[in-house]
Amino acid sequence: MNAFFQELGHAVLQRWKRENFSLAGFPEIARSALDERPPAEHVDLAAFMREFLLNDEQPFQTLSGFGQPELVAYTHPRFYIQLLFWLDGTTDIHQHEFSGAFHVMAGSSIHAHYEFENAQPVTPHLRVGDVKMKRIELLETGRTVPIISGPRCIHSLFHLDTPSVTVVVRTQNDPGTGPQFNYLPPRIAMDPVFADELTMRRKQLLDVLEQIEDPSYPELAQEMIAELDFERGFYILQHCMAHLQNLDEWQPALEAFETKHGALASGVAATLEEGARRDAIKEMRGSIAEPEHRFFLALLMNVSARADLLDLVSQRFPEEPPVETILRWAEELGTETDYGIAILDAAFPESLEIAPEDQPDIFMAALRHFMEGGKKAPAALRSLPVPQVQHLRAVFAASSLRVLVV
Ligand SMILES: [Fe+2]
Repeated sequence: MNAFFQELGHAVLQRWKRENFSLAGFPEIARSALDERPPAEHVDLAAFMREFLLNDEQPFQTLSGFGQPELVAYTHPRFYIQLLFWLDGTTDIHQHEFSGAFHVMAGSSIHAHYEFENAQPVTPHLRVGDVKMKRIELLETGRTVPIISGPRCIHSLFHLDTPSVTVVVRTQNDPGTGPQFNYLPPRIAMDPVFADELTMRRKQLLDVLEQIEDPSYPELAQEMIAELDFERGFYILQHCMAHLQNLDEWQPALEAFETKHGALASGVAATLEEGARRDAIKEMRGSIAEPEHRFFLALLMNVSARADLLDLVSQRFPEEPPVETILRWAEELGTETDYGIAILDAAFPESLEIAPEDQPDIFMAALRHFMEGGKKAPAALRSLPVPQVQHLRAVFAASSLRVLVV
């Protein structure tokens, strides 16, 4: 067992015992213990890993799928200390059924805080309300953040370095603060642990129909959505979205849901679109290794206002104006295809009929123009008619780069 974490666990136990194991007192105890002897300064990660691999005397490990992986470094019946490794990790927006504090031991992360306003339970496992981002910050190595159980602490993390390692000092479980909702902005809270077996099997059966290209798929999906209750209808709609969009049958299915559920369905379409946008960025992250580019993707995924995004870029890269940094990344991420150039998933529109060799200058000039809030157009754009410039803006607005141009 690692001596540093044994001592840390011992210190937390003594302090918490003095406070009669008060749940309300635990986050501050955990935070102060981590800040007094920060693991980022006192633990040699390579030595920790070697000790974990070679010394058989280790605390009881869990079967948790959280972290890549999770290692338990200290355990007590009331709390434990875990190390979470993250290789390409991003967390969902979530709350906790436990409390304590986490500490960035290696690497750094983008950390976003949310609130869930106007919460309205639909079932014990699903709520509607307004998911609002309140704050976004860069968490560098050595930072410690308290965790409070329940809806007062809703957050998401996007880990920037590989590996990122966080140390969590946490209670086993805070009774009455579950379920551990995940939040799908802008509208839905769902219990990720809840399993509705019939819905799961129905989704699998729909996948069979999709695989065999059964022509009855869109009609069946639409009939289900028109009949099902809100919770199950939402999951079926979510599951069928991509395939129905490919078949150009999405709109009737969405309308069937909206007709069935009226005001309760408001914001559901936006929630599903936002989920698809986040999934697309997560997927790109799998093929992009350059840390600056991963940082850029993290921002595109999590930040909803251009000013916040520029601010975070300045914090991390203060040497040049943030617009210049972003344009450099956009250029580095540019790819050439048979049809023209693309920046991430924003492809230069073929319909503009501009020669491939002229596209990069025009595309970059357009991006600069939109990012700077549409001030005087740069030279490369001046020869384009206004509708073509508007078309370029629409291309960016429909892509992962959306936040930069709206
Ligand atoms: Fe968390």
